[in-house]
Amino acid sequence: MLCGVPDLSVPLLDFEAAWSSARQVDGWLTEAQARMLYDSARAVAPGRVVEIGSHLGRSTIMLAASGAAVTAVDPFPGDWRYGRSDTEQRLRSHLAGAGVDTRVDVRVATSRTTRADWSEPVRLVYVDGKHDMWSCLDDLRWSRFLRVGDVVLVHDAFSSLGVTSAVLCDAAITDRHRYAGRTGSMARFEISRPALRDRLRVLRELPWFVRNLVVKVLLRLHLRPIARLLGHRDTADPY
Ligand SMILES: C[S@@+](CC[C@H](N)C(=O)[O-])C[C@H]1O[C@@H](n2cnc3c(N)ncnc32)[C@H](O)[C@@H]1O
Repeated sequence: MLCGVPDLSVPLLDFEAAWSSARQVDGWLTEAQARMLYDSARAVAPGRVVEIGSHLGRSTIMLAASGAAVTAVDPFPGDWRYGRSDTEQRLRSHLAGAGVDTRVDVRVATSRTTRADWSEPVRLVYVDGKHDMWSCLDDLRWSRFLRVGDVVLVHDAFSSLGVTSAVLCDAAITDRHRYAGRTGSMARFEISRPALRDRLRVLRELPWFVRNLVVKVLLRLHLRPIARLLGHRDTADPY
């Protein structure tokens, strides 16, 4: 810090401090995925990160703790299964409680509306918004604000029918999203022209997707012991 000017070259919080706040917030993010978000945002901090779908801020805290400037986009629809009328207020209070609110610009709007007026460069996009195929494909269009070597992370890429369909469609047609692997079902794409083998790598994740679908069905049938045999120890759906 020089004369009261924050030093943006250092993270706001180290990973452990950020995760100890984020893990107390309800949401869908494993510790390994939290580390992927934190490290990816840290690599571009103090550059701009766009998060599509923030809910209560579990992932937003990890992104902002890195020192990156985060735009958190969420319309907080009242009719969503886990949405409540006070979700936005709870998100803001979680960000303040973690000490990262100064790095987050919360946009109460859809991804598409926000993107329509967007013009500044973005260094990392985190897609975890509406989970139907068309919305997810539309969210992937945020990648046009990224440059070669930047990253798009997609949550539930291999654990949701809608998101997985979007990822498969995109793998077939994209000329700028190169699949670079996954942490659980969080997929990492780098901005670069994919080779055929990169497209095929996405297809090779389909057994993992099928396993996750089977686990979801087993959980709905209250067959947790069988889900455990597939390595799923949580009561929540796999992600
Ligand atoms: C799975 S939750 C996000 C979870 C969050 N990333 C976390 O770590 O807990 C999906 C979010 O997408 C939001 N959403 C729904 N439609 C959206 C849209 N059109 N644009 C952006 N976000 C949307 C929902 O309000 C919800 O908060």
